[in-house]
Amino acid sequence: MTQTRVLAESSSYCSILLFFLVFMAMLHSGLSVGVNWGTQATQQLPPDTVVKMLRENGFKKLKLFEADERILGALIGTEIEVMLGIPNNMLQMMCEDPGAAASWVDANVTSYSYTGGVHVKYVAVGNEPFLESYNGTYLECTLPALRNIQDALNQAGLGSKVKATIPFNADIYFSPDSNPVPSAGDFRAQLRDRTIEIIQYLFRNNAPFTVNIYPFLSLYGNIYFPFDYAFFDGTSKPVKDGDKQYTNAFDANFDTLVWALFKAGYADMPIIVGEIGWPTDGDINANVQNAKRFNQKLLQHVLSGKGTPARKGKIDIYLFSLLDENAKSIAPGGFERHWGIFEFDGKPKYELDLLGLAEDKGLVPADDVKYMPKRWCVMNLQANDLEDLSDSIDYACSRSDCTALGYGSSCNHLRSVEDNASYAFNMYYQVNNQNDYSCDFSGLAIVTNDDPSEEDCQFPVMISYGSPLLLHSGLSDIFIRIIEGYVMFFILLN
Ligand SMILES: *[C@@H]1O[C@H](CO)[C@@H](O)[C@H](O)[C@H]1NC(C)=O
Ligand SMILES: *[C@@H]1O[C@H](CO)[C@@H](O)[C@H](O)[C@H]1NC(C)=O
Ligand SMILES: *[C@@H]1O[C@H](CO)[C@@H](O)[C@H](O)[C@H]1NC(C)=O
Repeated sequence: MTQTRVLAESSSYCSILLFFLVFMAMLHSGLSVGVNWGTQATQQLPPDTVVKMLRENGFKKLKLFEADERILGALIGTEIEVMLGIPNNMLQMMCEDPGAAASWVDANVTSYSYTGGVHVKYVAVGNEPFLESYNGTYLECTLPALRNIQDALNQAGLGSKVKATIPFNADIYFSPDSNPVPSAGDFRAQLRDRTIEIIQYLFRNNAPFTVNIYPFLSLYGNIYFPFDYAFFDGTSKPVKDGDKQYTNAFDANFDTLVWALFKAGYADMPIIVGEIGWPTDGDINANVQNAKRFNQKLLQHVLSGKGTPARKGKIDIYLFSLLDENAKSIAPGGFERHWGIFEFDGKPKYELDLLGLAEDKGLVPADDVKYMPKRWCVMNLQANDLEDLSDSIDYACSRSDCTALGYGSSCNHLRSVEDNASYAFNMYYQVNNQNDYSCDFSGLAIVTNDDPSEEDCQFPVMISYGSPLLLHSGLSDIFIRIIEGYVMFFILLN
């Protein structure tokens, strides 16, 4: 009897030990959060600085929107696992020409896939190609492009390690207004067959389904959307779906997809959330408090392993995003330029515990950042011809970033036209690398050494790494001038 008891005890010790080991293994494997690094900014931190920041913050997974040589170079030798994007404007080529897909894979994946190179794990073929606002432009080409890329990966001998996937927008699936619960979810009728064909291909290839989910956009697009439901800290009115209860939009959205997949016959399809996050400016609901509230609880939730009502287990997510991007299109809204958990210069915006343990842990800022001189461009109060003022503000804003002036945004409280003008002139001056000629506006603007920033409304001084675009055009100008010089020289000789 004692013997059996000892056995029973030791087997329970064993199972505790086993449980502990499995738990530790889970902690050390996939249970970490990824992040999107977009580069649509006029002035960008050097890739080495950003990669160092990623490592110091413990990010092990990264999503890139395209294969930027400088960024891939900076990732060489790191353990960071990469999802590497192919932009939509390359889909047509990838779809029609398997050779183009093969060269892309060769140049951008294979050439980095040596021991100690770059750990590419996924190739993201296109970005939200079925978005309604693209009017079906990419419907035909998405699957063939996906196939050609995966075939090229297979031919390069990388097929078992590198999987092609497609980041979809969440509105390819829905629940009907008449029964708005996840279990009523399905793919949109016009896209259903195509989407399921893609899912079939992904599933056979052991590749995940990738989707971008944005409770912020649900709130932004619908004044009746219950505010608390966008977050994770409970709501007074949960949505009932059979025996399941939904207290947040993320779970409901995710499970709508789970149900749509189930109905298509793919109940076990792995899902990656390719983008999720909350912006901090450019809209009434976009601020640091809301972003912290959303992202912190999101991390706790997805890393806890509890899962959603319809699917248990950890949820693989990539935060959107790492850094603010002041050159993104604001067609969807001014908030588009403010998704970063860091400012454009690598300063953390708020505390965020990336392990999801909700400790008040600060993010690690970028190290050794170089700024331009502490100089600003403001309205010249001595100017007396104000006829061009509003045109000048429009001009400055259309060529820089004035989203902080918009309704509900951080600088919307600037009450005078002069302050507004100063904000616009300064943004234009800074994105143009503080060139003297960019602070004139026919005498309306003047350079100052006094920081015009106010509590809550920052007049930034940009980092001094130039605009890649401005630099390029500068270089090609010089190049053209040299060629012109040679041509003149030869004409004169003859
Ligand atoms: C590698 O990717 C970059 C960025 O998408 C692209 O411009 C380039 O053409 C690719 N290389 C090849 C050989 O396709
Ligand atoms: C889609 O169609 C709308 C309306 O016809 C048009 O305004 C828009 O520019 C189109 N978008 C694209 C990406 O073709
Ligand atoms: C300042 O600019 C913002 C955004 O362009 C505008 O909404 C606001 O009315 C302006 N304020 C003044 C006083 O001109």
